[in-house]
Amino acid sequence: MAETLLEVAHLIKTYPARGKGQKVQAVADASLALARGETLGLVGESGCGKSTLSRLILSLVAADQGAVRIAGADFLGAPREEQRLMRRRIQIVFQDALSSLNPRMTVGVNIAEPMRLQGLGTQASRREEARQLLELVGLRAEDEDRYPHEFSGGQCQRIAIARALVLKPDIVIFDEAVSALDVSIRAQILRLILDLQQKFGLSYIFISHDLSVVKRICDRIAVMYLGRIVEIGSSDAVCGSPRHPYTEALLRAIPIADPRRMRVENLGLIEGDTVAAAGPSGGCAFEPRCPHRFARCGLSVPPLFDIAAGHRAACFLNETDRQQGDP
Ligand SMILES: Nc1ncnc2c1ncn2[C@@H]1O[C@H](COP(=O)(O)OP(=O)(O)OP(=O)(O)O)[C@@H](O)[C@H]1O
Ligand SMILES: [Mg+2]
Repeated sequence: MAETLLEVAHLIKTYPARGKGQKVQAVADASLALARGETLGLVGESGCGKSTLSRLILSLVAADQGAVRIAGADFLGAPREEQRLMRRRIQIVFQDALSSLNPRMTVGVNIAEPMRLQGLGTQASRREEARQLLELVGLRAEDEDRYPHEFSGGQCQRIAIARALVLKPDIVIFDEAVSALDVSIRAQILRLILDLQQKFGLSYIFISHDLSVVKRICDRIAVMYLGRIVEIGSSDAVCGSPRHPYTEALLRAIPIADPRRMRVENLGLIEGDTVAAAGPSGGCAFEPRCPHRFARCGLSVPPLFDIAAGHRAACFLNETDRQQGDP
């Protein structure tokens, strides 16, 4: 069994919603583990909490509850200085690379900036590091003196990846990092991401609304619905024999180009339905849309039922299966 690098336990984040006194549970009791060298896909419709979960893991926003452990050590609860050092081990690449880069800094300075902020190296050594990283991600060392706006979307994503690697992390989170790119450029960047993983033994969390990409590159997949992980397992198990009706719907859905508008159309969802009002609804959050719902579903929130080794789904249909299967 590969070493567990990252453990996320019972993370919860609630935001105030627009309506008076209402709340949105952006992440509701999410737990997962990530092994060294592994890629975990995180999928679900727009607004289900994928980005919030990644920001909680990185400690970019404060969790209401829950823990994040990196190589067994408490990250969110670590003393300030210790947390600062642990931050090097986990990095993120966003969808909009150009706006994630500082337009007033050259790309060389952009790439080396995390080193400077961490007080690492000299100006000369940081520069050398940036030049090497530019070549590693398929650009030229001489590009260091140019500015982000001089590069295409795909090239900016290469620069953002170089910057994510400059602190030699163990874990990289890609939050829709290839979603905005044209198909051919997307394939090139995916190739780069996978090559870098091989080279450095990196662990990835790969967030995407596009299950077809996730299926191709991820070892395991976690499916999120309204802040909860409703199914998790190997890519083969989750895509080949899904055990949550929402996963089935996602697999049937045809992804549309704009991830901001990703919806499972064939379930008749209306705009705004994915905004979860945290309240005593009592039952499974998917129940109103579920074609298989039965009385039990409205009564309590289904826990993640074990289906097979590493494959779990939060749907009462699995409880019924288990009971029927018992001798
Ligand atoms: N800073 C915030 N303040 C209030 N509500 C927020 C905030 N950030 C996120 N939310 C809400 O939390 C929920 C989850 O949002 P999040 O951005 O994590 O979803 P997502 O799965 O990343 O969606 P997308 O696929 O569109 O990127 C949404 O209902 C969103 O409106
Ligand atoms: Mg997001």
